[in-house]
Amino acid sequence: MAYIILDTGRKIGRINKNIYGHFAEHLGRCIYGGIWVGKESPIPNTDGLRNDIIDALREIKIPVLRWPGGCFADTYHWMDGIGPYEQRPSMINTHWGGVVENNHFGTHEFLKFCELIGADPYICGNMGSGTVQEMQQWVEYITFDGKSPMTELRSKNGRSEPWKLPFFGIGNENWGCGGNMRAEYYADEYRRYATYVRNYGGNKIYKIAGGASVDDYHWTEVLMREARHLMNGLSLHYYTRTSTDWSVKGSATNFSGDEWFSVMKNALFMEELVKKHSSIMDKYDPDKRIGLIVDEWGTWFDVEPGTNPAFLYQQNTLRDALVAGIHLNIFNNHCDRVQMANLAQTVNVLQAVILTEGEKMIVTPTYHVFNMYKAHQEAELLPLSVSSGNYTMNGQSIPKISASASVDNENTVHISLCNLHPAEAEKITCFSPGKHFGRISGKILTADKMNAHNTFENPSAVKPEPFGEFCVNEGEITVFMPAKSVVVLALE
Ligand code: AHR
Repeated sequence: MAYIILDTGRKIGRINKNIYGHFAEHLGRCIYGGIWVGKESPIPNTDGLRNDIIDALREIKIPVLRWPGGCFADTYHWMDGIGPYEQRPSMINTHWGGVVENNHFGTHEFLKFCELIGADPYICGNMGSGTVQEMQQWVEYITFDGKSPMTELRSKNGRSEPWKLPFFGIGNENWGCGGNMRAEYYADEYRRYATYVRNYGGNKIYKIAGGASVDDYHWTEVLMREARHLMNGLSLHYYTRTSTDWSVKGSATNFSGDEWFSVMKNALFMEELVKKHSSIMDKYDPDKRIGLIVDEWGTWFDVEPGTNPAFLYQQNTLRDALVAGIHLNIFNNHCDRVQMANLAQTVNVLQAVILTEGEKMIVTPTYHVFNMYKAHQEAELLPLSVSSGNYTMNGQSIPKISASASVDNENTVHISLCNLHPAEAEKITCFSPGKHFGRISGKILTADKMNAHNTFENPSAVKPEPFGEFCVNEGEITVFMPAKSVVVLALE
């Protein structure tokens, strides 16, 4: 039995649509094969970009897309990815399997893809192995509206008008693959590079500093103390695995009840991370001008047997759907500080929303959660307090229910609920003092098995269904939530 108190009379902050953002890296089959097939491909495409992927991503309204990495970003030299394809030099993708990168997907292709899917571009610049000049020229090439060597080059490559570039990251994981820097050193370098990431014409760049790994609070402290005046956002990366031991990732599909529990527990850890990093940010930025940008999150399991270990290709089950629901509820509930989040990664890598095999494409349970939750984008967060029973395993307990609620500008309230328990249904009574809803509808994502997932042979094994297991009585709504399920209710 769980209780929710929902105050529909008090709006406590806008949920930035960018919380529903994604991340696509030059890694495995995310870009090549996943997004880009080239203009000559028999797979239906628009200028080399897969039409099925474009349609699927438009449907979930992805607001922002981060590219080209990840670790790849700090090895990427953007000038290699412009101009005629046959003249673009190849490089070795050292981080991700040592494969040859032919640079056919570059700046123009990425920005075209963003236009086609209706997302804002978020480019992560190379600080680890790139120069200040290279970073400055990239921004000039994309956004400058006057005459300059960079804009002449852009015109020569077929684009005379500048693009809008709203988000730019200055390096990625610079404590690790992005240069193994100390926080103090990165903060100084950030200040130098950020100086040259300029606003040209009407383009205003939201500058994002490379942030902490997981619970490295020292990193956040130093960056906020030393460089806050030059940043708009500070990032945070955290991946959910089966164990907190990095070497034990666990199978994506073949797991026990214990492993289900530990993944739920590890997903909920995001709440603590957001709170603790935010409290450091509050000290230096009490007005919350600077956004916490969780630009890499999601599950990280063992790769599918027989696939390249460096390509990070994993299946995606109902368990991943719950992880997505938990994270999005946490981000919604902290929308005063969390201004963007980017699921890793869009296609064929880690907690992908889409998987492809040649010309075939399927969407994952995680995709469906993004589709169900999209109603929260740009809506106003409502205060909601949940008291639920615990889900206990081997002496450890976590709450059974995760939830968030918002009201959109048509006055429809959406409540997203996750029942984390794999075996116990939950009756949830939701009190909404002073409010009577005329019409309620819902959708549910669940399945019989914990590891239910979609395959190329059975692409609709896990898909949302209409949900009607609720009753309304004098302003109280009672919801009967099956075990291991995600529900979104629309209350009008
Ligand atoms: O998303 C995969 C990798 O995880 C990224 O390249 C890196 O930033 C992180 O460690």
